[in-house]
Amino acid sequence: MKKILFAASEGNPFIKTGGLADVIGALPKYLDGKKFDVRVILPKYLCIPEKDRQKMSHVTEFYADMPRGREYIGIDKAKAEGITYYFIDNEHYFAGDNPYNQIFEDVNKFAFYSRAVLASLPELKFCPDIIHCHDWQAALIPVFLKEFYGNDPFFHNIKTVMTIHNQKFQGRWRIDDIENCRDLSADCRYKAMEAYKETNFLKAGILYADRVTTVSETYAEEIKFPEGGEGLDGVMREVSGKLSGIVNGIDYEEYNSMKDPMLAAPFGLRNLAQKKKNKEALQTEMGLKLDSKVMLIGIVSRLTEQKGFDLVNYIMEEMLTTMNVQVAALGTGEERFQDSFRYFHNKYPGQFSATIGYSEECAHKIYGGADVFLMPSQFEPCGLSQLISMRYGTVPIVRETGGLKDTVEAYNEIWQTGTGFSFANYDAREMFNIIRYAYDVYQNHSKEWKMMMKRCMKADNSWRNSAKKYEKLYQGLAE
Ligand code: ADP
Ligand code: GLC
Repeated sequence: MKKILFAASEGNPFIKTGGLADVIGALPKYLDGKKFDVRVILPKYLCIPEKDRQKMSHVTEFYADMPRGREYIGIDKAKAEGITYYFIDNEHYFAGDNPYNQIFEDVNKFAFYSRAVLASLPELKFCPDIIHCHDWQAALIPVFLKEFYGNDPFFHNIKTVMTIHNQKFQGRWRIDDIENCRDLSADCRYKAMEAYKETNFLKAGILYADRVTTVSETYAEEIKFPEGGEGLDGVMREVSGKLSGIVNGIDYEEYNSMKDPMLAAPFGLRNLAQKKKNKEALQTEMGLKLDSKVMLIGIVSRLTEQKGFDLVNYIMEEMLTTMNVQVAALGTGEERFQDSFRYFHNKYPGQFSATIGYSEECAHKIYGGADVFLMPSQFEPCGLSQLISMRYGTVPIVRETGGLKDTVEAYNEIWQTGTGFSFANYDAREMFNIIRYAYDVYQNHSKEWKMMMKRCMKADNSWRNSAKKYEKLYQGLAE
């Protein structure tokens, strides 16, 4: 039995701001429990909802010497769907109403977290074969492991995997100002951990980890080029021998149109007509005009530049005034995008409805009730929303980048193949034209549209296949 420890800054069902939490909450369940003992270790944020905190029990507490002095580390534990979760407790670091605050606080916070994960292992008497580190917040684990514990027999055989969920976020800050890294050797701090004269957590993790993965094959290629590398393309080319792309899946239990309690009318391939009831319910709940003929476009997203909202804003008025479409949007993020969504909401009542905020329930209702799902990302390491929408028979319109390219097959009207609509260039006109094309198929070729909905629902985007790839990676590394 190989022991695997997932280290990450968020994980379903305890704390989620995006797709990372979905992956951490699902992948461990899909790894073969007979071959792998998989556990997860997260920070115990004060913002974890009370109902989830109540599931935790206290395991132990101790103090560890760190650059700021003796630091308290508490460890709590909880089970979720058969998986053991540990939580690192320290109210000084993990306060606040969001896991992430200001980057200058976050670098010390997650350096602390990474040190605390390693310091906890002997206390827990849990010696993993592999620590699987996710994103920059856990990227210093491979560094501290080699630098501080290299000669310690307990830690000697531990291997590390670093998974990049988003190369844009790197954990960068002024080298001399990160107190919780101050005791690393100058060689490490000013060379391996340095990029563009700053500390770069992600770069350090990439260099120190035994294997590096990212969340789709296309993204694994894109990050080797200046256009997609976010300044680290040279590093990615250097480590290409240990880098691979493994596409994400989604949790088929959580996202199941036939059993989803948040839907007005659960439905499946056999009673696809029921989906209409979800459209009606969505229109009613979001204050849209009741109309079964309109093409209802869903959006569920972090409202950031990454997700392509400048393109969306650019064409929105023309789209709303020239096509019989409605938009149901849910999201939170940058002020400018929240504001533009509020503007359309006010200017086009009954046709554009925006909910600014975070709501699992509203998200499920949009995935279940919309006809198409719009996701024109500038870049997208994998993307889960398009996979969720396909599972609910909601046809995605995406830009051909990263995981969107790998998971959405463009509609081909001659061969009647494909699971969505896609466009290549980051260009508002191109996007507008492809929305128009989708609109034409939706309005005038309803039989073909229905066949495409079915292909979407049949596409296998479960974790099953990708979990096997991770198993192979772990087996190869821990032998
Ligand atoms: P990213 O991780 O880059 O935000 P993904 O597509 O990988 O994008 O994952 C996003 C996840 O977060 C999906 O599960 C999506 O449904 C969810 N999500 C995003 N924004 C919201 C929101 N405002 N309310 C509820 N869920 C959201
Ligand atoms: C990141 C990426 C997204 C990916 C998710 C989970 O948030 O932006 O594309 O699906 O991580 O891996």
